Amino acid sequence: QFPLPIPPLKQPKAIFTNNRTGGPINYYEIEIKPFNHSIYPNLPPTPMVGYDGISPGPTIMLPRGTESVIRFVNNSPSNSSIHLHGSYSRAPWDGWAEDMTSPGQYKDYFFPNRQSARMMWYHDHAMHITAENAYMGQAGVYLLTDPAEEALNLPSGYGTYDIPLVLTSKQYNSNGTLYSTHNENLSLWGDIIHVNGQPWPFHSVQPRKYRFRFLNAAVSRSFGLYFVKTTATNDKLPFKAIASDSGLLSHPVQISDISISMAERYEIVFDFSGMQGQTIELRNFYKAGGAGTEDDYMDTHQVMQFKVSSLPLNTPNNSSVPNSLRTVPFPTSTNDKISQKFKFRFTKGKWLINGVGFADAANRILANVPKGTVQIWELENMSDSWSHPIHVHLVDFKIISRRKGARGIMSYEKAGLKDVVWLGKYEKVLVEAHFAPWDGVYMFHCHNLIHEDSDMMAAFNVTETLS
Ligand code: C2O
Ligand code: CU
Repeated sequence: QFPLPIPPLKQPKAIFTNNRTGGPINYYEIEIKPFNHSIYPNLPPTPMVGYDGISPGPTIMLPRGTESVIRFVNNSPSNSSIHLHGSYSRAPWDGWAEDMTSPGQYKDYFFPNRQSARMMWYHDHAMHITAENAYMGQAGVYLLTDPAEEALNLPSGYGTYDIPLVLTSKQYNSNGTLYSTHNENLSLWGDIIHVNGQPWPFHSVQPRKYRFRFLNAAVSRSFGLYFVKTTATNDKLPFKAIASDSGLLSHPVQISDISISMAERYEIVFDFSGMQGQTIELRNFYKAGGAGTEDDYMDTHQVMQFKVSSLPLNTPNNSSVPNSLRTVPFPTSTNDKISQKFKFRFTKGKWLINGVGFADAANRILANVPKGTVQIWELENMSDSWSHPIHVHLVDFKIISRRKGARGIMSYEKAGLKDVVWLGKYEKVLVEAHFAPWDGVYMFHCHNLIHEDSDMMAAFNVTETLS
């Protein structure tokens, strides 16, 4: 068993001043390049491709209000397109799937970073190869901080008491190479769970509060996470959810397990106080495809371990979790009208939205939305055997209802804003969003990357109303 790696923080190469606003612009350079990753010393290294030659890529951490320009230099053998997931980027820098940078070329991306503090992630979005590129390593964490959040006195300090946990699930060939996503057209479940790139790692902690920022960066696998003591594995330990995709919840939600589908982010505070000398396991209760079929892997119920120090705290833990976290800017519409209805279904050998796939360029803009309006969208999964985490670019949305399937809205989904919603089998979900601040053509899609690539992705056009 190996320790949990923490992705290093990326330093800007230069800091410029925005002539118009007087504010700072951080300039970064990130190289997309092949590298060999030694997972286990007794196996040959695994060829991968990652940002700066690591996976997850380096973490970018910025205060809200500092703009960024990132030059992504593609020194990999395949095309790339970069999406900053969770950011309201202008369309030319949003990772449009066909806007690909070829090997040997670079593209400069601009990000406004003016949203509320949140955990975002940057990942590949290239047409038909997103699954393979992300799976081979192209994903990294991007954190936006702000003074209001810092004033709450949550556990803090990147990599010490505030720790990103990037979950993936992979499958290896016996020669140490990764089993390619190109072999699959339904899903790639993976049988080896990784956290921050390391299979089933452990992390040494102190008996105090920690903030953990979960990102599910897997191709197809959803997780149901819970904590147990190795000595009492039937008792789920309580913890508090404090943030989701779009930043802090309105208040902490006390739970004992949390469901996280692909591309979702949930942040929690777990308190190891009083657990000196114990080993706490993080486990997964979801079978890959749900009941029955894809669940026959031995160890996918395990995620990682925390080894709590038997020594007393070396620095006092003054962090806290206040009862109120922030006023979440939920969109408010004046009526209950459903503006758009989208059905997600497997037909004609493809994953489609209202019968259309992204490759159908003439028909793929499925909605025109006037900029500045609030709309309710109905998202419906027509399948009884597949689930689809649906991501809408540009906006943060509120989940209004979840019907027809087995579940309602989770307490932690209700307390904040999201940019991905897990559409379980047969479920019909209503989401509400304020379509702003920019006009432009944006994508929405299933974040099971196999489905996205073939071809469960479409677009909506946020239109400018000229006065
Ligand atoms: Cu995380 Cu369109 O993607
Ligand atoms: Cu899907």
